[in-house]
Amino acid sequence: MLFSFKFCIAGALVGLLATAQLLDASCKSWEAPSGAKAIYILNNGDSNSVAAIPIAHNGTLFGGVTRATGGNGGSTVKATGGFNGPDALGSQSSLTVVDSVSKTDPTDLKLVNKPIAVPGQFPVTVAASSKNSLVCVGTTGAQAGVSCASYTPGGLGSMSPLTVFSLNQTTPPSRPLNGVAHTFFSDDEDRLITTVKGDPTTNNTGFVSVLPVENFYSYPGAHDTRSSLNGTAVLFGAAVIPGTSTFLATDASFGAAILQVNSFTNEVLISSKQTIPGQKATCWAAYSKQRGSVFVTDPLVNRLVELSALDSQVITTIDLTNGDSGLIDLKVSGRYVYALSPGNGTTPAAVTVVDSFVGKQIQHFLVGGLGASKSSQGVAVLE
Ligand SMILES: *[C@@H]1O[C@H](CO)[C@@H](O)[C@H](O)[C@H]1NC(C)=O
Ligand SMILES: *[C@@H]1O[C@H](CO)[C@@H](O)[C@H](O)[C@H]1NC(C)=O
Ligand SMILES: *[C@@H]1O[C@H](CO)[C@@H](O)[C@H](O)[C@H]1NC(C)=O
Ligand SMILES: *[C@@H]1O[C@H](CO)[C@@H](O)[C@H](O)[C@H]1NC(C)=O
Ligand SMILES: *[C@@H]1O[C@H](CO)[C@@H](O)[C@H](O)[C@H]1NC(C)=O
Repeated sequence: MLFSFKFCIAGALVGLLATAQLLDASCKSWEAPSGAKAIYILNNGDSNSVAAIPIAHNGTLFGGVTRATGGNGGSTVKATGGFNGPDALGSQSSLTVVDSVSKTDPTDLKLVNKPIAVPGQFPVTVAASSKNSLVCVGTTGAQAGVSCASYTPGGLGSMSPLTVFSLNQTTPPSRPLNGVAHTFFSDDEDRLITTVKGDPTTNNTGFVSVLPVENFYSYPGAHDTRSSLNGTAVLFGAAVIPGTSTFLATDASFGAAILQVNSFTNEVLISSKQTIPGQKATCWAAYSKQRGSVFVTDPLVNRLVELSALDSQVITTIDLTNGDSGLIDLKVSGRYVYALSPGNGTTPAAVTVVDSFVGKQIQHFLVGGLGASKSSQGVAVLE
């Protein structure tokens, strides 16, 4: 029974925009641990939806279904007017999976209870902690910050008051710079960490916010510690290095760095830094358990770069020749890397599947038919 409770919340998928939503895969047939896996993409269209795509035993994608979230997508705007895309949200992790357990049909998603309102105006990133039963949302724009809600199999509680970041940004946010990029939990899930992009054109360095989970339960609100890191400029996505208090963070202005959280002061320091040759805007990162390394992507260069989880040195570069202009959000499951290219309106939206042990693409799976477009952002995986 305890196990079936765990199974029921397994694969809870939190979608974003305007509200936080809990979608849950069906709880039937829990006795059949088929190892069914899937990836999920936030389509982020005007009528928002999630594409759920099953993974075959050899790592390739097939079929897929689209589920409406009932909410609306969003997009940052260009300095010259018009919406950004690819990279509509300028963030990593606009949807997330929590409590991963096998199930027979990981594409059978349904909304759990009702969506809840998020304080702040432009949600772009979401993290979930199984240990704390918490879902935390980062909002950017004119009212930026982080806030959290508890979750149960019955749905989401209400969001805590916003821990405010005063960014002097607009809603919708202008340009991809100066904004909340990625909120995620430390490996021990005791801290919520958020990267905030700076803006080199105004000498704004941005910062990393570290918020101990225990602070959420202290009145009058959650107090975080912010570190501005000299030598960084546009901190973006992150990948937590398991078993450590470090994470690899991308910086769109040069490449990546390994950052370390001080467990006593909650301050963040740079432990190593790596300029990635040929990079234009390294933004998304995902840890590979099987290789003990981190894969990063760039929306302007069509390749995967594998970095050391110890010192962020480049290990391998996997160049792709599938016609995409670059890659955004990505996830790793076993030896396979799943990276989204939303296209640019002319080139189609696709997920590139790479076998990281061979260093080659094994599939270029088109996702336009599942509702993905140049606005799409966020990839989650159920393993
Ligand atoms: C993977 O499996 C699918 C379905 O069984 C098959 O159609 C496809 O050819 C296989 N691809 C590779 C690269 O082995
Ligand atoms: C806020 O942004 C506006 C518009 O970009 C700028 O003119 C103003 O100087 C900024 N204010 C501060 C305090 O940075
Ligand atoms: C940024 O800082 C540099 C070095 O201190 C200075 O030369 C430059 O004028 C500053 N730029 C802006 C836009 O404030
Ligand atoms: C930032 O780093 C540069 C180059 O390493 C150094 O010259 C400068 O003094 C540092 N600034 C601060 C505020 O530490
Ligand atoms: C989309 O990308 C393709 C391939 O890089 C390029 O040829 C095309 O001009 C781009 N279209 C737009 C609208 O940016």
